[in-house]
Amino acid sequence: MTEATISKGTDWGYAPAPESTDHIRLKERYGLFIGGKFVPPISGKYFKTINPANEKALAEVADAGEKDIDRAVQAARQAYEKVWRRMSGRERGKYVYRIARLIQERARELAVVESMDGGKPIRESRDVDIPLSAAHFFYHAGWADKLPYAFPAKKVSPIGVAGQIIPWNFPLLMVAWKVAPALACGNTVVLKPAETTPLTALLFAEICQEAGLPDGVFNLVTGAGPTGAALVNHPDLDKVAFTGSTEVGKAIQKALASRGTKLTLELGGKAAHIIFEDATIDQAVEGIINGIYFNQGHVCCAGSRLFVQESVEEEVVAKLKSRMETLIVGDPLDKNTDIGAINSRAQCDRIREYLKVGVEEGAELFQTSCAVPNRGYWVRPSFFTKVAQSHRIVQEEIFGPVLAIQTFRTLSEVLEKANNTPYGLSGGVWTDKGAKIFKVTRGIKAGVIWANTFNKFDPASPFGGYKESGYGREGGRHGLRAYVELS
Ligand code: NAI
Ligand code: MG
Repeated sequence: MTEATISKGTDWGYAPAPESTDHIRLKERYGLFIGGKFVPPISGKYFKTINPANEKALAEVADAGEKDIDRAVQAARQAYEKVWRRMSGRERGKYVYRIARLIQERARELAVVESMDGGKPIRESRDVDIPLSAAHFFYHAGWADKLPYAFPAKKVSPIGVAGQIIPWNFPLLMVAWKVAPALACGNTVVLKPAETTPLTALLFAEICQEAGLPDGVFNLVTGAGPTGAALVNHPDLDKVAFTGSTEVGKAIQKALASRGTKLTLELGGKAAHIIFEDATIDQAVEGIINGIYFNQGHVCCAGSRLFVQESVEEEVVAKLKSRMETLIVGDPLDKNTDIGAINSRAQCDRIREYLKVGVEEGAELFQTSCAVPNRGYWVRPSFFTKVAQSHRIVQEEIFGPVLAIQTFRTLSEVLEKANNTPYGLSGGVWTDKGAKIFKVTRGIKAGVIWANTFNKFDPASPFGGYKESGYGREGGRHGLRAYVELS
């Protein structure tokens, strides 16, 4: 008999499986998308968007100034008055459907560009971001001619021109969350994507052209904070929708306080993720991983505060450590990658600062031992134990792959700790008992609470927060409300 040829010492690592980029044709330079055409910025200024995994420039995009914003808002106003508000819901719906279909057709290209521009693993952009973006357009296309059924016994009309500002963590998905309900309800749009991830929004503008969307219904202005501020301050907007930091959200709220402009804000979060001793621990560990390490932790509803019942703390932490050691950090375009690049140098610095602060505050840091590439921005999956409620790493949104772990003994104790936060966006609970689920979901002040799962999204399900997490809902019938006038 021959000896077994497979020894236990064999390295069972994955071979590299990079997604091809051969089909990607980025332009060297992108203008603004105004009135159905790509136009150079009046400002004459451009900036580079880079790939955070290798710090190489991908393309130049326009840096829109006040005059550019004015031109875009005027185009949106004209399209609103002359075309879009007058069109029947049935006709509008056809355009929104067409956009959904074109996102599906170009899904592979969109997924690869999303991962190149923002650093998220291709598996996530391919399986989550892009399909969900299409789903949002399909869902809202269905509502376009049925709005009277969404709001029975009311006269439903559009609001007008919407200025929309989105962040960099889910670039195309945030385009979909903002644009799909606006268009379906008969509004026109000027959208500003985040400065580090403008490329899929620019491809989306091409999709609007391909779909034959009437000129000016969707307009895109690229730029950083000052461009966003100029958009918010334009006097001819009827509605502003913002997703991003609580700090900028508050500034926008102040700027609009004296005007009649409608506003919805989707801001930060610091979700409590609660594991009871009767939970299926292995599944709960998967939930913790998904809750905080999905999209490098750049998730407003991330389960960033973990509460483990004392009796299972040792088991949960041990299993979490060994599961974390299997996470592959690296090339976002590799299909095996679990954790990609941190979106920008600034965000990477911010996360590293919090890692330092946590240690200084006396918490105990664990990081996985994986290697990370030399170039680009990376943070290894991390968690803190021995943390106190007053620690900054427990109170503030880190927006990176960093978890703070605390323990609890009783349900009332964990509810009190969970609610001890200025935020109120999301939460999660793992338990075998239905009654406990109801007590937790009723006891926590948050817009979304997942039970025995985490980070599940559906266009039919409203999403949004309480307290400093903002107000207004996106998705579902509740989300339509932000884009209609009722009388
Ligand atoms: P940010 O709030 O500055 O950026 C979000 C968007 O707002 C971008 O498009 C940006 O260009 C725009 N913006 C910036 N200043 C503006 C202004 N004065 N007026 C109008 N628009 C403006 O967020 P940033 O600096 O990229 O990230 C900082 C922190 O914010 C993160 O560490 C995270 O904690 C939080 N954040 C939360 C997000 C969420 O989804 N809730 C998304 C992005 C960031
Ligand atoms: Mg970029």
